[in-house]
Amino acid sequence: MYPLRRNRILRSNPSIRKMVRETTLQAEDFLVPLFVTEGNGIREEIPSMPSYYRLSLDHLEKEVKELWNMGLCSVLLFVKIPDNLKDNTGAEALNTHGLMQRAIKTVKNACPDMLVMTDVALDPYSSFGHDGIVANGQILNDATNAVLAEMSVSHALAGADFVAPSDMMDGRIKIIREALEDEELTSTGIMSYAAKYASGFYGPFRDALESAPVASKNAPKDKQTYQMDPGNRLEAIKEAEMDIDEGADIIMVKPGLCYLDIVRDLREAVDVPLAVYQVSGEYAMLKAAAEKGWLDHDAVMLEQLISIKRAGANIIASYFAKEAVPLLG
Ligand code: PBG
Repeated sequence: MYPLRRNRILRSNPSIRKMVRETTLQAEDFLVPLFVTEGNGIREEIPSMPSYYRLSLDHLEKEVKELWNMGLCSVLLFVKIPDNLKDNTGAEALNTHGLMQRAIKTVKNACPDMLVMTDVALDPYSSFGHDGIVANGQILNDATNAVLAEMSVSHALAGADFVAPSDMMDGRIKIIREALEDEELTSTGIMSYAAKYASGFYGPFRDALESAPVASKNAPKDKQTYQMDPGNRLEAIKEAEMDIDEGADIIMVKPGLCYLDIVRDLREAVDVPLAVYQVSGEYAMLKAAAEKGWLDHDAVMLEQLISIKRAGANIIASYFAKEAVPLLG
């Protein structure tokens, strides 16, 4: 017989395609990153991230209610800190009434069941724009961990469900877990950015928070001494295994599309939920191409998201979440 099998039978109409589809997306898969800024009545578009906004707390409240009503049940919070509150040690990060702490409470008051995850790293608070404390041109590992632990406790006390350390210091998950335990914060989760690469795709995010590394002879010009080298694959497994041993509940790979081999490796290597962060540059790239009429925005968006899930992600942090959910069949 020729052909041996007629594989096109299973592709012949939308109903059968839907029935045999191996991977599907649903609203619960998404983590929605949100940028929070000081002030009132502020909803300012980020120039390098069209249709994405920095929100003051009043708009944050509206936004999370809207997300919740769409079935989106988890947010990842980032704050834009005024320059005058930045220093080398991230002191403002520990302010009980700081912007992050108020943002967490705002979300929880508006939507008590919305999962709130918070970014833990010094960069939005750092006068050098680095994720850790700088001394003699280096990023100090252990001194940074002590601040990250305090920051995590502060976020948890404000009501965060998960803290998400994105700094790539060694040993920080253990120090954070111990600090949470010391405060009897036994139900706070840790989602570690376990395999976070030193990527050019973070540019628009750094515009959003004005958090890019500052040119200075006293600090490294980039994050390559702590974020991973894009050429490395085995190292991602080592990072993930260590973070899990130290107490991470969820691990993350970041960025998304260029790193789907890593996602597959980790999905096979470890047994905790795996998140993928489709980052700001990935968002900007599609928006720009679609604006020029070179790509079909919605088709490419959904294809990217399904590919991330097919590669092995259980959770997708994506700036497209709100646009994608209404299109899911
Ligand atoms: C902060 C942090 C960054 C991102 C998430 N957390 C930027 C960086 O490491 O420089 C990037 C997210 C994105 O590009 O969407 N440590």
